[in-house]
Amino acid sequence: MPPSLLILLLITTLTLLHHTTPQNQNQDLDNTDCTDKYIHIRHLPPHFNTHLLSNCTYPFFPSNLCQHLPNQALGPTTHNTSHSWFRTDPTLLEHFFHTRMLEYPCLTNDPTLADAIYVPYYTVLDSLRYLYGDRYNYSDQHGKSLYEFLAREDTAVWDRHMGHDHFVVLAGSAWDYIQPLSNGGDNGGDGVSRVRVWGSSFLEMEEFFNVTVLAYESRAYPFQEMSIPYMTSFHPPSLGLFDSWVRRVRGVRRPVLMMFAGGGGISTSPNVRRSIRLECEANVDLCEFVDCSNGICEHDPIKFMKPMLRASFCLQPPGDTPTRRSTFDSILAGCIPVFFEELSAKKQYVWHLPEDEYDEFSVMIPKEDVVFKGVSVVEVLKGIPKSRVRKMRNKLIEMIPRIVYRRHGSSLGLRNQKDAFDIAVEGTIQRIKARLESLGDM
Ligand SMILES: *[C@@H]1O[C@H](CO)[C@@H](O)[C@H](O)[C@H]1NC(C)=O
Ligand SMILES: *[C@@H]1O[C@H](CO)[C@@H](O)[C@H](O)[C@H]1NC(C)=O
Ligand SMILES: *[C@@H]1O[C@H](CO)[C@@H](O)[C@H](O)[C@H]1NC(C)=O
Ligand SMILES: *[C@@H]1O[C@H](CO)[C@@H](O)[C@H](O)[C@H]1NC(C)=O
Repeated sequence: MPPSLLILLLITTLTLLHHTTPQNQNQDLDNTDCTDKYIHIRHLPPHFNTHLLSNCTYPFFPSNLCQHLPNQALGPTTHNTSHSWFRTDPTLLEHFFHTRMLEYPCLTNDPTLADAIYVPYYTVLDSLRYLYGDRYNYSDQHGKSLYEFLAREDTAVWDRHMGHDHFVVLAGSAWDYIQPLSNGGDNGGDGVSRVRVWGSSFLEMEEFFNVTVLAYESRAYPFQEMSIPYMTSFHPPSLGLFDSWVRRVRGVRRPVLMMFAGGGGISTSPNVRRSIRLECEANVDLCEFVDCSNGICEHDPIKFMKPMLRASFCLQPPGDTPTRRSTFDSILAGCIPVFFEELSAKKQYVWHLPEDEYDEFSVMIPKEDVVFKGVSVVEVLKGIPKSRVRKMRNKLIEMIPRIVYRRHGSSLGLRNQKDAFDIAVEGTIQRIKARLESLGDM
C-alpha cells in the first residue's frame, strides 16, 4: 500500500474513533491518562507534507529518496526475514514522526483543549527545492507560504498563543537553515548577485521564532530549536525483538578497542579526523576503520553495526557539523561513544541523554588535545580499567530504549516503554508549558 493511502486509512480510523470519544480519540486503546498531554494536529494541505513524498523523484535530490519510502518511510527491511532492521534514510523522520503522531493516544480535535499543536510540515523535504531546485534563488522564502497558511486558516489557533504552542520537525541540522535574510535569497530575483550562503532562511524568519522546532542538531545558543536523536536503522515492532537485540549487545565479545566509521581525514591540514585516521593506521590491532566516505554506509547498516558490536569504543569526531547519526548507531550497539567536543551530544540531546551523567556512559577527549597536544586516543582508552568499561557499557545499554524510534503499530508491550518519539513529545509539551507560563499564560 502506498504511504499516502495508509495515512488516509489511519485518518479515517481516527475520524471514526472520534465519533465515540470526541475529545480523546485513542485514549481507550491505551488506557492513558491524557491530562496535560493533549496534542492537536493542525490541518495542512498535502503539498506541505504527503505530496512531497508522492513526488519523490526530485531531479535535484542527492540520493534516491523514493527507495526509502516503504514501511512509512522507515525504508525497506535489510533482509526479507528482518522485522526490526530497515534501510532508513534519516531525512524521512518528518513523515515517520507524522505517522507516529497519528497513533499518539492523546490527540484532540479541539485546539483549545490542546497542550501543544503539532504542525505536520515536512520542513527538510520542502527545503530541497530551495537548496537544489527551482527555488534556488529564493531560499529566503522557505516557510513563507506555510506561515501564510497557518496565520490565515483558523486564525484563532495561531493567535491563541501567537504560535508559542506550535511545534514542527526538521530532519536536519539547524545550521543549514539560518541563511541571513539580508542575503535576499542569494540572487533575490533582483539580479544583484550575492555570495551564496548554504541553506535556507527557515529559522531566520521571525514568523517562526515562537515555534518549537525539533531538529537533529541545534545551534549552541538556545534558539527555537531543540535536538532529538537521529533515526537509526533499528525500529523493532515488539518488546521481544527489542529485548533480543539488547541481549545480543550485552553478551557479544568485543575484541577491538576502538572503531571509527566515517569518511574524511584525508586532507593534510591538522584536524581530529586526520589524527584518528593516523592513529588507527598505526594501531591496526586495536582500531578498526570502516570507510564510509561518499555515503556508502548510509543505507547499509550491516556495514557499520557489525564492527560496532566488535568494539568497546566508537569514535565520534565532528565532521562538517558537530553531530553525527553514528553516535546513535554506536549507543544502539553498546559501543561506548568517544566525543571530541561537547556540542556533539552533551549540549544537544538534553531530553534523551542525561547531561550530568555523560561521564558514566561516554568518554570526552577535547579535540584540541588530540590535534595540537599530541594526546593519543588509543592510550587514553587503553588506560580505562576493564571493570569501568563494563560499567559504562551497562549504563549505555540502559539508554538504548530512549534513542530508538520504535516502528508505528508496534506491540503494546513495547509501547509501554518510552522511545525517542515519546520523550521528544513529552519534552516539547513541557517546554511549551514553561514558555506559556513565562509569558503569563497569554
Ligand atoms: C512534482 O514536482 C515538480 C517539479 O518540482 C512539480 O512541477 C510538480 O507539480 C510536482 N507534483 C506534485 C504532485 O506535487
Ligand atoms: C526476497 O523476496 C523477494 C520478493 O519476495 C525475492 O525476489 C527475493 O529472492 C528474496 N530474497 C531472498 C534473499 O530470499
Ligand atoms: C539563480 O540565479 C543565477 C544568477 O542570476 C542564475 O544564473 C541561475 O540560473 C538561477 N538559478 C535558478 C535555479 O533559477
Ligand atoms: C511571537 O510572540 C510574541 C510575544 O511573545 C509576539 O509579540 C509576536 O507577534 C509573535 N510572533 C508571531 C509571528 O506571531
